[in-house]
Amino acid sequence: MPKGLFIVIEGIDGTGKSTQARRLGEWFTDQGREVVVSREPTDGPWGTKLRESASTGRLLPEEELQCFLNDRHQHVEELIAPSLAAGKVVILDRYYFSSMAYQGARGFDPLEIRRRNEEFAPLPDLLLILDLDVDTAHSRIGVRGDTTNEFEQRENLTRCREIFLSLKDEWFVRVIDSNGTLDDVAARIREVVTAR
Ligand code: TYD
Repeated sequence: MPKGLFIVIEGIDGTGKSTQARRLGEWFTDQGREVVVSREPTDGPWGTKLRESASTGRLLPEEELQCFLNDRHQHVEELIAPSLAAGKVVILDRYYFSSMAYQGARGFDPLEIRRRNEEFAPLPDLLLILDLDVDTAHSRIGVRGDTTNEFEQRENLTRCREIFLSLKDEWFVRVIDSNGTLDDVAARIREVVTAR
């Protein structure tokens, strides 16, 4: 059975995941590979509900976690698994490691979240964690708000970053220093992908 290549890009907000996912996709396309670049939350019904909740008010913790699981279930069944089975390169901007980090920062046990996801979600061949200190990431997304909010957000992202970095010694994980220009980061990513 043909088997594709599954690469996931993770990191806190402001690390440049979506740009790097797109650029890595273009790089594979240039080499004649069939590529699917996708993201979570998806643009499906569950993902749309989650994105809307960002402006209308966050869902309750358990409901939010369940929504991410439902969204991912559908993503795996309808896009990820069939694309990999067809031998394509699948590149994701966020996956269940974001649930470990963000819902973990909201109080759930990250390892329990991981277990629930790995019941149905395939492990990537390569997980790239784009890493940046919270101040730099924050200034890149241009966060402006009242100071309490900003403080809370920093605390939250600091916890998310810690959870992402807790994965750094796993065999399928590479941490990418995301300081510097988009070209610098893209070059680091290509180097790691080539080595794998
Ligand atoms: P993001 O990629 O930042 O979307 P956009 O580029 O549209 O802003 O993702 C939206 C938010 O969803 C982000 O703050 C992280 C959060 N998220 C979770 O809390 N859990 C998850 O499992 C995923 C995939 C994302």
